[in-house]
Parts: sequence; structure tokens; C-alpha cells
Amino acid sequence: MARVLTSTPLFPDQADRMVAAGHELRTPSGEEPMTRRELLDRLPEAEGLLCLLSDRMDGEVLRVGSSLKVVANIDVGYENVDVEAARGLGIAVTNTPDVLTEATADQAFALLLAVARRVPEADRAVREGRFPPWRLEQDLLGADVSGKTLGIVGMGRIGAAVARRGRNGFGMRVLYASRTRKAEIERELRAELVPLDRLLAESDFVSLHVPGTPETQHLIDAEALARMKSSAFLINVARGPVVDEAALADALELGAIAGAGLDVFEEEPTVHPRLLELREHIVLAPHLGSATRETRRAMVRLAVDNVLAVLSGKPPVTPVS
Ligand code: NAP
Ligand code: GLV
Repeated sequence: MARVLTSTPLFPDQADRMVAAGHELRTPSGEEPMTRRELLDRLPEAEGLLCLLSDRMDGEVLRVGSSLKVVANIDVGYENVDVEAARGLGIAVTNTPDVLTEATADQAFALLLAVARRVPEADRAVREGRFPPWRLEQDLLGADVSGKTLGIVGMGRIGAAVARRGRNGFGMRVLYASRTRKAEIERELRAELVPLDRLLAESDFVSLHVPGTPETQHLIDAEALARMKSSAFLINVARGPVVDEAALADALELGAIAGAGLDVFEEEPTVHPRLLELREHIVLAPHLGSATRETRRAMVRLAVDNVLAVLSGKPPVTPVS
């Protein structure tokens, strides 16, 4: 029997699995995730922890959890966890890859279509009684998606899933910039590996799928935005800090790029005020990439699988590298 702490309330069937395996599950006192203070107070003696991207699992927290054997992040990104410190303390760290890939790729494509075809602006116009008369050159004209060039930055699981949607669903030409070559994806999607500068210069839609790391911080800065076509759109469902938001606001205000669809922000939940002020050619979502009922259940199931495996002396199912 082990003590397992969850920083956020779990789905009851997944909580039951933990109890059925003979473990004692400790949950937040209310409906909301634990505060850092509560986490620090309740972590001693816990051998397993389920946590969220919003829980900062730094050296201080990990040392307080000196009995921990596993930290199971209920997210694929894990920049909230000091993996080196955990390794030093003999704590396994796990994440939830694959199960959220399709939902997050759908969100990227939803933003891409929404900003290209101006869906939120159109919705507002209808509700506010501004139904534009049908004219050849009319209000709310958008941009074609089919047949255009899609530039994927970070050809991992989600990048490839977005590329598949673009290539197979919309006949798009796929360019990609990534750390390593993906020969299978190239064969499958006739995708072409190109330097980032060329991807930015040639793509009609630039979609970001790199993890949040020191190397990807402001990968898309003023210089990168200046390389994009004035008719091109930027989509970010990766991490906020990958884009310099002030530079993006400049580019959108000046019409240096055609629009942006953003699911993630540099200082969540704060959004740069100049992005909030823009009413056209921008679509914003509050970090909803994996936010479908089915996907959130699958993420929790996988996180619980990881905790149960480690506590029974087996290797974790999806350890972070
Ligand atoms: P993944 O399979 O690890 O893909 C990341 C890709 O980025 C890999 O191909 C990696 O190259 C590449 N890469 C890493 N650093 C790079 C760099 N400096 N320059 C160029 N390419 C680089 O991860 P994933 O499952 O697709 O998830 C990607 C990210 O999406 C996550 O880390 C997370 O931040 C974000 N995400 C957001 C949401 C949301 O709700 N908005 C949901 C899920 C995920 P290699 O192949 O060589 O390793
Ligand atoms: C969400 O952003 C994740 O990394 O799973």
C-alpha cells in the first residue's frame, strides 16, 4: 500500500483504480487544484503524485516529497518539472504523450480555419445585426486553405498530425523545420525538410509544435515574423514563450502578417493587452489543445497507469526522456 497524492480532483473511475490497487489516494479538499502551499504541506509521505502543468515541481517541492517514487504529469509538456532534480532524487517523471495528439492537432486546425475564414468576426457580425450584403468584394473575405503551403515547426507527434490534416484533408504542400529529419513523414506526406528561414518565407500557414525549452524561447521573434509573407498566418498551440507576443502584436497591427490563431500565451492566464485589443484577423483560445472529454479521460488513465506501474515495481509506461 502506498500513499498517492493528486493535486487535482480525478475522474471517479480512475480514483477507484488507485484504491482497488490497494493505495490510499489523497485528493484536494475542494473542487479546485491544490495551491503550492497545500501541495508542500501534503507531499511528505506521498510515494506517488499526479500533477498538472500549472504545478511547479521544482527542487524545493521535490525535496519536500522525499518519499516520492513517481511524479505523473497529466500533460505531454513537462517543463514544469525539474527533471534533473527528480533524477538525482531517484524519482521517475512521466507525461501523457500520444493520447492528446489528435485533439491538439484538431485545435490547431480549428484555429487555422477560424482565422483564415474569420469565423469569430463573422459570428460577431451576425449577432450584432451587421449581416454584410453579398458582394464580390465584400466584408469578411477570408483566405483559401486548400492547396496552400503549410509550414510545420517541430515535426513531432502533434506536428505530424497537423501535417496529415493539411496534406490529406486540404491538399496542402507541407514544409517542415525540425531538430531531426523525419524520413517516414516525408514519404507519407511528401513533406520537405527546410531551414526555418525558408519555411517562414514560403508558408501560407506557419504552425508551431516545438516544446517549451530555453532553445525555443522566442523562436518566433520580430525577425522571424518579418520573414513571413504579409498574406501568411501564424498558429500556435505549442507554448506561449515560443512567440514574442509584443513582436506579434506589432506584426498584426502593421499588417506585416495576415493573422494569428493562438491557444497558448507567454504569461498564462494573462494575454498581452495589445493582442486582446485586436478585433480582426486573430483568434484566441485559453489553452484548450487537449480539452475534449475523451482526451482528458485518456490523459488521466495514462497518468494513473504510470503511477500504478512504478508503485508495483515496474518501469513507467511513458517516462520523459
Ligand atoms: P514531440 O512529439 O516531442 O514533438 C516535438 C517536436 O519538436 C519534435 O519533433 C522535436 O524534435 C522538435 N523540436 C524540439 N526542439 C526543437 C527545436 N529547438 N527546434 C526545432 N524542433 C524542435 O511532442 P508533441 O507530443 O508533438 O507535443 C509538442 C508540444 O505541444 C508539447 O511539448 C507541448 O508544449 C505542446 N502541447 C500543447 C497543447 C495545448 O493544449 N495547446 C497540448 C499538447 C501539447 P525531435 O523529433 O528531434 O525530438
Ligand atoms: C498541454 O499543454 C500539454 O502539454 O499536454
